[in-house]
This record gives sequence, C-alpha cells and structure tokens, in this order.
Amino acid sequence: METIVSLCKRRGFVFPASEIYGGIGNTYDYGPLGVELKRRVKEAWWTRMVTLRDDVVGLDSAIIQNPRTWETSGHVVNFTDPMVDCKKCKARFRADKLDDARCPERPSKKPGECGGELTEARAFNLMFKTNVGAVEGTGSVAYLRPETAQGIFLNFKNVLESSRVKPPFGIAQIGKSFRNEITPGNFVFRTREFEQAEMEFFLPPAQNDQWYAYWVNERFQWYVDYGIDPAKLRRFEHPKEKLAHYCIACTDVEYEYPFGWGELEGIACRTDFDLKSHSEASGKDLRYFDPETKERYFPWVVEPAAGVDRAALTFLIDAYDEEVVEGEKRVVLHLHPEIAPITVAVLPLVKKEGMPEKAQAIELALRRARFATYYDESAAIGRRYRRQDEIGTPYCVTIDGDTMKDDVVTVRLRDSMRQERIQVADLAAWIASDMRQWKRPARATTAP
Ligand code: GAP
Repeated sequence: METIVSLCKRRGFVFPASEIYGGIGNTYDYGPLGVELKRRVKEAWWTRMVTLRDDVVGLDSAIIQNPRTWETSGHVVNFTDPMVDCKKCKARFRADKLDDARCPERPSKKPGECGGELTEARAFNLMFKTNVGAVEGTGSVAYLRPETAQGIFLNFKNVLESSRVKPPFGIAQIGKSFRNEITPGNFVFRTREFEQAEMEFFLPPAQNDQWYAYWVNERFQWYVDYGIDPAKLRRFEHPKEKLAHYCIACTDVEYEYPFGWGELEGIACRTDFDLKSHSEASGKDLRYFDPETKERYFPWVVEPAAGVDRAALTFLIDAYDEEVVEGEKRVVLHLHPEIAPITVAVLPLVKKEGMPEKAQAIELALRRARFATYYDESAAIGRRYRRQDEIGTPYCVTIDGDTMKDDVVTVRLRDSMRQERIQVADLAAWIASDMRQWKRPARATTAP
C-alpha cells in the first residue's frame, strides 16, 4: 500500500484533504490524474450498466432527503457499528475489529494494551447529522445519505410513470455517500466521504433467484473485462446471521488487497423491504400494476452496489508492476486503456527542427478526436516513456526527423514496449482499434 500511496501523491492521483492544516482523518482529494481515473471508472460502469442496456435507466437524486427516509429504511436504528472507547488514551475502536486496530499511543499496541480499560460496546450510528434551514433544533435535523439506494426507492413511482419501463428493470445512480466510520483506513478503501455506483433492479418476485445469480456474475465479469486479475477476485456469500437488516442474501465480489481480502462490491437481494416500508410510512402506494396479469405487487429488488473510490484503488493496485528493463527498474501501471487517465502522450524527439510544432498539431488533432492527451518535450525520450509508464498511459507517439519528411510517427506501446510506424492520417483510427483489442499482459511481478 505504501508504494501505491506514494505514487498517488507524487504523480497527482490522490492527495490528503486539507493537508496544509494537518489533514482531516482519512479524507482525500483527487488530483488531476485521480479525477480522470475516477471519471473513467464511472464512465465504464455507466456504459455497461445503463448505456448498453435497454432495461436500466439513470437517476441523480439529492444527498439530503426528508429524514423520514432514514427512519423508514431502518438506518436511524440499525445502521450502527459496535464501538468501544479506551478510558486512558480516549481512542475509539470498532468492537468487532479489535484485532486489526492499533492504539494511537506510541509505540503502537493493540487496543487496551496502553494500560487503559476498554468500555462496554455501544452502538454508534454511522450517519452524519446536519441541520436544514436557519434554525438548529430537533425539527431541522437531517442526514447526509449513507447510501445512494434510498433516493432510487423514493423515485420508483416517478420513474415508472415517466419512463417506458416495467419489471424487470433497473434504476442506476452514481453519487457521494457519507458514513462516520469509526475506523476508516487503508487509504481510499474506507473513508467517511466516498462515491457509490448503485443499481436497484426491480423484478417480479418469482424471478429473484435467476436475476440474483445473473447480477453476481455480471458484476464479477465487469472487473475482469476491465483488466483485474481474476485470480485475485472471489465471490463471498454472507452467512445468513451476518446479513444487513434489509436483505435475505448478499454476495460480495472481493479482491485480494495487499492488506488481505476485502469487499469490492456487494450484490444484495433486498426483497420488497424498501418499497413496502416506504409505502407504509408515506401512505403512497408503491406497488406496480401489471396490465397483463392485472396483478398489483411490490417488485423485489436485486442491488449491485459498488464503491467508485474502492474500484479506482483496486484498478491501481492490480495494474501496478515493477520490472527490470536494460538494467533499470521500470514502474508501470498496466491499466485498461479505457481506464487510464491519459490515453496518448505526444512527444517530439527533440525541441527543434519543427518537431514541437508538428507534435502539437498532432496532439490537437487527437484531442479533437476525443482522446485524453498529454504533450511532453522535456528530458530524454526514454525518461519520458518511463514517466508515462508510471501513470499508465498506453500509447506514446514520437515525432522524429523522418516524420517531418514522410508524416509517419512511432507509436510505442506501454505493455509490450513494442514500436510501430503509423501514418499520421491513420493514427486516431489505429489507436482506437488497438484499444479495442487490449488484453491484460502477463506481469513481471505481482502487485506490491
Ligand atoms: N446500498 C447498499 C450499500 O450501500 P455497502 O456494502 O454498505 O452496501 C456498497 O456499500 C459499496 O460501497 C461497498 O462494496 C464499497 O465498495 C463502498 N463503500 C462502502 N463504505 C465505504 C467507505 N466507508 N469508504 C469507501 N467505500 C465504501
């Protein structure tokens, strides 16, 4: 993790938030490359979950909803972690994660080993409270959403009535969620503010098992298709007694992180719990009327719920590789070309003989063809290739003396380091075609 964290800071993927004021516990900002990486992760998710399907539509609901939403969903009562406090050092730990926790006293020890007594476990609600309007008081209390899912349930009827959808169909949403995690950690794996990509798939109850199996496989395959090593992914089915209050089955897609196996995404069977509860609490009938069978029923829901930050981190970790090339260490991110923050770097071999101008004209043409480009004329060409390898740029285009005569450039591929001579006029089409054929390369090493 240290290698990844340091690369992220050095190359502008992720910075600690409010760093000049000493930071604010496990909160991060995304820099120029990080924001591009995250945008591409979201785009890849949206393309697969919404654009390429005719049975899923999108939504963007508010972060702060009527607080009754969270009473009805069960979050006010149930969305808690058991917590203990150390009476000596005043640190707070998750009672169910004491083995992984460290006391802040130095040298760092296990909770309680600083000599302090630990309190009895108490339920700690993870929702952030805020006040709406000018007056603070119990009447104005509201919550920052801890999941994007509830905004989808609240809009179920609106979408049903305004769009040509009928079960089985899904509503997808990407957006920020907030949880006052007691022990955040492992960089952006667990933070208090994060982005989720969730989809609620509404279906006739009899089709539950088939859609649950479908979405578990589909979501697992999405990570594989975007280059994650399948040997580092597994499915984990939650035991019945450990399930969240709203579901009857849940399978996580897990990844083997440097700190062990961890949840990447959860696919849950939420039954009709949410629609039924909101119907009862609001007095609005959220059942679906099937005009063919003349039946009115609450659809059941299968929910694939992913974390965008966690997915971005996983792509970075899984793409990271170190190898020795001509006696020198080469650090390379073998990111899928559609996930890489920059697709093409354009590099004049030297800063003279018209090469920079030619390179800039080629870069502009690639930009206009909607490629994410980067122009770099500083340092020796080998060094410039290494800089791009380290941030995962799949293509470097070099403009040399011959280009000035024959309009042919060298395309150097990140994974194989192979070089191809391509006509400038064919460049955009060649890159687009090569991107479509990308395959995860064998690695020199595994992730750190
Ligand atoms: N609507 C269901 C739901 O929210 P979840 O398993 O609590 O389920 C879904 O969250 C995904 O959101 C997780 O698999 C994870 O990727 C991401 N996630 C949850 N808590 C997070 C946190 N504190 N920091 C970063 N990502 C988080």
